Amino acid sequence: MIPFAYKNNRLFCEETDLTAVAGQYGTPAYVYSKAGIVHNFQKIDQAFAAHPHLVCYALKANANPVILKMMAELGAGADVVSGGELALALKAGFPAQRIVYASVGKTDAEIRYAIGSNVLAINIESREELQVTARIAAEMGAVAPIAIRINPDIDIEGHPYLTTGKSANKFGIEMKEARDCYLWAAGQKSIKIAGVHCHVGSMIKKADPYVKMAETLAAFVSDLQAQGIHFEHVDIGGGLGVDYTRVLGEKETPWFMEPEDIAEKVIPVIKQTGCEILFEPGRSIIGPNGLLLSQVLFRKETKGKKFIIVDAAMNDLIRPSLYSAYHTVLPLQKSDAATEQVDVVGAICESGDFLAKDRDLPVMQRGDHLAVMTAGAYGYTLSSNYNERPRAVEVLVDGDSHRIIREREKAAF
Ligand SMILES: Cc1ncc(COP(=O)(O)O)c(C=O)c1O
Repeated sequence: MIPFAYKNNRLFCEETDLTAVAGQYGTPAYVYSKAGIVHNFQKIDQAFAAHPHLVCYALKANANPVILKMMAELGAGADVVSGGELALALKAGFPAQRIVYASVGKTDAEIRYAIGSNVLAINIESREELQVTARIAAEMGAVAPIAIRINPDIDIEGHPYLTTGKSANKFGIEMKEARDCYLWAAGQKSIKIAGVHCHVGSMIKKADPYVKMAETLAAFVSDLQAQGIHFEHVDIGGGLGVDYTRVLGEKETPWFMEPEDIAEKVIPVIKQTGCEILFEPGRSIIGPNGLLLSQVLFRKETKGKKFIIVDAAMNDLIRPSLYSAYHTVLPLQKSDAATEQVDVVGAICESGDFLAKDRDLPVMQRGDHLAVMTAGAYGYTLSSNYNERPRAVEVLVDGDSHRIIREREKAAF
């Protein structure tokens, strides 16, 4: 399901006319579909129904408190990467026993906070972090539940910034060292081994990396089980890719990669370990269910190049600048106007500030509105105040109703 479609030549989110949303709340504005978010979470959750599992929503994709509360109420767990995200998750109502905490650089205060909060697992990313966690837990008179993040040296064949499971990446611990770490951890009174963790990257387009990862983790766990070490869960991370070119939906729009494809192949492998499966999707739940509304400020033409200058910029959505990521741009009002090739750019003082390059769009004029599609994930969470620009308003659509779920930041003038 994709919740966006043209009706009478106007772009809608569910039953809501987005031109009206832009008029009411102004632009730039992030708009999310409640039905789409619920649908995608439930589809992923049901894909794993044949085996004990927990879908831990990755807050880094979108941490709006209203959306988090929705996810918690749906029964999701949470994957957090900082003390700040842990606090947000707890406040939103995720039970601590459904929260996993990964980060390559946790501070002592964050480790103490995670132990004190009684999270399901602290995902450990280095030998030194394991030792520090054991010491802090002992000082607290507590037991720290841990899972070691394995770096299995698996290539997802994606953007280098989105690849996290190669040995050249900073994440996780190599297999041999991880084995030593578990053997050491098993002898520590202040450590409880909860599971094993892996996340090989984001925007994964095929089931293969998941299968390879599952096989690697299952063999790793079986070996340590034979040494008398008990594991409760195997966490396969997130990373399910989404199709940034498929943006308008009919009821049964196929997914880029169906979660069922992964579950079907991964479950039989993990089943052998007797462990629960944890999955940490972010982008695939929220990405296709959000867009960024913007308004055309100016048109401009240089020698051989046309620019549409809009009121959203890289501070609102950095993915095109950071990853050369492709986001489809659509006018809110479809017309028969001739098309032209343009760059859609913002006002930031960087030539890298663009939302789309060399796109054939219908001729747009000052005051027209457009939507940058598939912007629900890694949009608002990666936004900033660069150039002293306030962050955008966030709006949640539910059928034909809509409401602000985070106010626009106040401009300083
Ligand atoms: C450890 C971990 N889990 C889950 C995710 C979520 O990935 P995605 O949004 O691609 O599903 C990430 C993303 O970076 C991550 O680092």
